[in-house]
Amino acid sequence: MKKLWGGRFQQSTDSLMERFSASISYDRILYAYDIEGSIAHCKMLAKCKIIKPAEAKKIIGGLGRIAKEFDEGRFEVHERLEDIHMNIESRLAELIGPVAGKLHTARSRNDQICLDIRMYLRDEVDEILLEIHRLAKTLLNLAKKNIDHIIPGYTHLQRAQPVLLSHHLLAHLEMFLRDRDRLKDCLKRINVMPLGSAALAGTNFPIDRHYVAKLLKFPAVSHNSMDSVSDRDFLIEFGSAASIIMMHLSRFCEEVILWSSSEFNMIELSDAFSTGSSIMPQKKNPDPAELIRGKTGRVYGNLVALLTLMKSLPLAYNRDLQEDKEPLFDSVNTVKMCLAVFDGMIKSAKFKKVSLEKLQTEGFLTATDIADYLVLKDLPFREAHEITGKTVAYCVQSKKNLAEVSLAEFKKISPRFKEDVMDHISIESSMDRKISHGGTARKNVVAQIERLKKELQKK
Ligand code: ARG
Repeated sequence: MKKLWGGRFQQSTDSLMERFSASISYDRILYAYDIEGSIAHCKMLAKCKIIKPAEAKKIIGGLGRIAKEFDEGRFEVHERLEDIHMNIESRLAELIGPVAGKLHTARSRNDQICLDIRMYLRDEVDEILLEIHRLAKTLLNLAKKNIDHIIPGYTHLQRAQPVLLSHHLLAHLEMFLRDRDRLKDCLKRINVMPLGSAALAGTNFPIDRHYVAKLLKFPAVSHNSMDSVSDRDFLIEFGSAASIIMMHLSRFCEEVILWSSSEFNMIELSDAFSTGSSIMPQKKNPDPAELIRGKTGRVYGNLVALLTLMKSLPLAYNRDLQEDKEPLFDSVNTVKMCLAVFDGMIKSAKFKKVSLEKLQTEGFLTATDIADYLVLKDLPFREAHEITGKTVAYCVQSKKNLAEVSLAEFKKISPRFKEDVMDHISIESSMDRKISHGGTARKNVVAQIERLKKELQKK
């Protein structure tokens, strides 16, 4: 098998160098895009009368056969042909003879690989968007289903104020919607057609790059050939969007892990999405959540690998750029899989109701409501805070919870307390009062569910 660039070489490549240089083991997954791009390029060459119609027909026929060989798992790749581009071109020559050599007119592998990864990534981003949409719908349904379920809200991982579980779930949904928007925005920069930039300078042939863009459904073509072949910003943007998605999943996973412990006892994962211990028979572990949390590091690492890859590359193409693919593919696969697994895990989990009694008796969740009550009695908030603090201290000392303090005791702490303070201590009334926009009052959350339902129906 002849090397396609062998002309100026007298010695053959060292076998170690061949192995070192080859990317075919991982870039073979780009075959369909490489072939589709080549077919569009070939049609354009014929349209611009750079090759003859009969030649184009032969080339396109051959490329079709190669696509079929790949689809059916019959295509034999060769490491010594380095990458996906040369494996395909070399096979084309075997199939249709020397006319195959005309395909590479007015292009280079430098612009070809950029085209391939842009086509690959826009498809994958669409898939990731579908996964995000699916998870968003799951969270919305869970929020609807659990609308009466109150949980302790935390700050500093200390019990803070009561919130609706639905409110908590929708907080995560907001994050995933931002992830969706970030990916859609990133898609604009992915969806730019680089082919025809050739090696770096453009080409002598009267090609029609806009026609290729139209055939391949790119809304824009790149404007500078040197930038085209060396730009990997879109990968870094994707890597960053992917890292943020993983960070969001990982935070949620951390909560699932905490909540499934007997200390929190707030969630039970389904058998389908948990695993056992090989030594401790009683255990049911939240492994999917832990694995997602763990894989987050990999995706961050991929982003840093891409940034580092680019940081001192002079224009234009450099072979270093071949190293962009493994981190890219790994992030794509990891994010897609993690979104799907998380969806399965959370959809099948059982949220355990925390009893009102437990909420009322542990953690003084409505202390802030008492301070707010005093503000209604015209006390500055800072003073109200102080008096409420004293009330809590009194409770701790006398081993009571807020609901157990009598009116007489309240009045002893401060004469500002009146009979109606009793209405402000209960968990339910605390919930109902959080009516500020974005607050956790039930009617707010119901309105948010409606808004999000419409948002998710949009195309
Ligand atoms: N396999 C190469 C890559 O992934 C394709 C471009 C190679 N270009 C070159 N001049 N060697 O970047």
